[in-house]
Amino acid sequence: MDKVDYYVPFDLQPYQGSSLLMDVFTPGDRRTIGDISYHTCWKKLKYAEEIDTTNHESFRPAYHHTPAYGWMNDPNGMFYKDGVWHLYYQYNPYGSQWENMSWGHSTSSDLIHWQTQPLALEPDALGTIFSGSCVVDKENTAGFGKNAIVAFYTSAGARQVQSLAYSTDDGRTFTKYPGNPIITSQAPDFRDPHVFWNEEAGHWNLILAAGQQMSIYSSTNLKEWKHESDFGANYGNHNGVWECPDLFPLPVEGTDKTKWMLICNINPGGPWGGSAAQYFIGTFDGKTFTCEDDPQETKWMDYGKDHYATVSFDNAPDGRRVAIAWMSNWQYANLVPTRQFRSANSIARELGLFEYQGETYCSVRPVREMDAFRGKQIARPTETCEIVVTLKGDAQLTLRNGKGEKVVISYNEAEGSIDFDRRRSGEGSFSDAFPTIITSPTYGEVRQLRIFIDRCSMELFDGDGKMAMTNLVFPSEPYNRLSIQGKAKARIYSLQK
Ligand code: FRU
Repeated sequence: MDKVDYYVPFDLQPYQGSSLLMDVFTPGDRRTIGDISYHTCWKKLKYAEEIDTTNHESFRPAYHHTPAYGWMNDPNGMFYKDGVWHLYYQYNPYGSQWENMSWGHSTSSDLIHWQTQPLALEPDALGTIFSGSCVVDKENTAGFGKNAIVAFYTSAGARQVQSLAYSTDDGRTFTKYPGNPIITSQAPDFRDPHVFWNEEAGHWNLILAAGQQMSIYSSTNLKEWKHESDFGANYGNHNGVWECPDLFPLPVEGTDKTKWMLICNINPGGPWGGSAAQYFIGTFDGKTFTCEDDPQETKWMDYGKDHYATVSFDNAPDGRRVAIAWMSNWQYANLVPTRQFRSANSIARELGLFEYQGETYCSVRPVREMDAFRGKQIARPTETCEIVVTLKGDAQLTLRNGKGEKVVISYNEAEGSIDFDRRRSGEGSFSDAFPTIITSPTYGEVRQLRIFIDRCSMELFDGDGKMAMTNLVFPSEPYNRLSIQGKAKARIYSLQK
């Protein structure tokens, strides 16, 4: 092979003075797709300094977090400290498909502009580094130092076990704990530990996904964990593997009640196929989560097709509960039409709870930092804009480009639903599961709809937070026309950069 799709740097510094043996694995064999020479381009090797990692892709979002190059999935280990939001992520630094799981790292002061930081955690003898969380250990309960950052992740080797690493430089570099693994099991799917300080109970809690339930642990020192309970049998959706949990209290809007929300990402089993984030509402006493929902009902945080692995930041200021989702779906994440990088994260979202017809649901709003990001009003949609739609009843919005590609969004007030039709939105041939109509319930009337467009994504939010819908689209040129039928008016805003 003599054509290189994209380059990635490989740091040889750690191997200085020793010889390096590289194993090259290829997906084929000689008979079908050629021998090793077909998959290697030895003659095209370059020094890392010469590698161009600047963006060459029209589908790279402008204001969503993406890795500079390489593959990304779940957001991991998110925390806030001293004015900085830290986002780690499932990362393959050596290719743009899922492999070599490590933790990449980016930081931001406003949840919109992100700076790439050095790789935070790399595979070791216990396995590759799967998803997990971080906490700020303010009182030095673990003995790594006051305000140490303690990371929990799954070591994915022959078994999935839970490991710990700590940082005494605000999450820049981590030291793996010599006593790893800290939690083990024989279960085949046993992963994604999420740790948080439980103020009322006065101890740490950890929740992780174990097959099709969530296991809850407690600890006083972050190293030794006691299994307390399991949640999930007979509750919600079980048409896939449970992954990436989170658990936290939230106030119920307009009341003086506080309830606990348990996030359970599931793949497959989502409402429109593949990956999605379901949640449960209830109480939590530090040991057991008691769900108040009808066990038969499934509540989804976002009815779009590209919203997964959603978890929240530790230690966010002002009592905020800020979450980020991975904007893709395992049905086609490895196939989407980008090359040098794959996947973006959602806009950061502020979570709350609201009541509707006697039930409690999760409210989702773009973080307030997005309001400050709004620029001047413009006449036509662009590849990076916000559309604010005022609705007075049924309406249909069509976004299209000169190539005849379009997205049709329909609001049906009587049915209480919003449809997102991306069947002719642009490139979609990479997966049969992509060109489809996606529908979300609205939980009452929608009076304002905010639509955030960023090259290959469209995120819809009800202005009152009752509905969110996140979908990818790959138009061959930006949608630059908006037409409206029905009872709606739209204003379009540029977004600052
Ligand atoms: C979810 C997930 C996690 C796992 C990670 C591996 O998307 O499957 O359960 O830790 O991805 O990359």
